[in-house]
Amino acid sequence: MTIEGKRIIVTGSASGMGEATLKAYIQAGAHVIGMDVSDDIGSSICENSNNEGPGRCSYIHVDVSDKASVVSSFAKANEMLGGLDVLAHPAAIQRASNASEVSVEDWDLMFAVNVKGTMLTNQIAQEYMKASGGGSIINFGSISGLRPEPSASAYSAAKGAVHSWTRTAAGSWGKDNIRVNAILPAMATPMYRAARERSSEEENLASHWRNSVPIALGQEYGDPEKDLAPVMIFFASDASKFITGQLIPVDGGQTAGL
Ligand SMILES: NC(=O)c1ccc[n+]([C@@H]2O[C@H](COP(=O)([O-])OP(=O)(O)OC[C@H]3O[C@@H](n4cnc5c(N)ncnc54)[C@H](O)[C@@H]3O)[C@@H](O)[C@H]2O)c1
Repeated sequence: MTIEGKRIIVTGSASGMGEATLKAYIQAGAHVIGMDVSDDIGSSICENSNNEGPGRCSYIHVDVSDKASVVSSFAKANEMLGGLDVLAHPAAIQRASNASEVSVEDWDLMFAVNVKGTMLTNQIAQEYMKASGGGSIINFGSISGLRPEPSASAYSAAKGAVHSWTRTAAGSWGKDNIRVNAILPAMATPMYRAARERSSEEENLASHWRNSVPIALGQEYGDPEKDLAPVMIFFASDASKFITGQLIPVDGGQTAGL
C-alpha cells in the first residue's frame, strides 16, 4: 500500500476530492503535481501541503478541455517529476439541465471538460507512463452515469461516456502495464453542495439525496479526506496492480440501491 516516492499528477486539486487526494498523497510521501484552472487556491493548497510534507508538491495551471494546455502542462510535470506513475483525475464540472431543455452550449461544455478532458489527460499520461514502465490512471465517473438523472441530463450522459472510455482505455493499455479505473464517489464537496442547493424541495425530500447512502448514518455523503483518500492511496499503490477497467463505487452503498 506504500506510495512513497511515486510520481503523481492530481487534476482538480483546488477543491473537493482533488484537494483531499493531493493532501493524502503528500502525507504518504509521494511527489505530486497539482493542476487546476483555479490557480490562486490550487497554489496555496500546494504550498500548505509542502510545509507539512513529507512528500513534495508543485502546482501547474491546466484547462483539461484544451489539448494545448494538457500537452504543455503534462510535459512540464513529467520533466519536474522525472517520469509519471499515477494520474488521479477528478477535475470536472456539473450543471443542471433537463432532457427537454438542455442547450447545445451546455452539452458541448459538459462533454469538453468531462469527456474530452478525460480522454486528453489519460492519453497524454499514458505516453509518459509507458516510458516509465507502467502506471495507474484513476478517473471519476458517477452514479449519474448509471441511473436516470432528470435534473442533470448532459452531466449524466458525459459520465456514462467516462465509464465507457475507462473500460476501453484499460483494454488498450493493459499490455503496457497501465491500469485504468474509475471511482464513482458520493462525497460532501463544493460540487455536491452546489447540486444540493439547486435541487428543488421536492427532490430534496426524495430518496435521490436523503437516505440514499445507507452507511452514512445521518451524514448524507462521505468525507473526502476520511472516506475517499484511503481508496485513492490504494489505487495509486502497487496493492491494486491486478485491478483494471473497473467502475468502483465509493459511495457508502448508494449505487447498491439502484
Ligand atoms: N461530489 C460527489 O459526490 C460526486 C458524485 C459523483 C461524481 N463526482 C465526480 O467526482 C469528481 C470530483 O468532484 P468534486 O465533488 O471534488 O468537485 P469540485 O467541484 O469540488 O472540484 C472540481 C475541481 O475541478 C476543477 N476544474 C473544473 N474544470 C476544470 C478544467 N477545465 N480544467 C482543470 N480543472 C478544472 C475545478 O476548478 C475544481 O477545483 C468529479 O469528476 C465529479 O464529477 C462527484
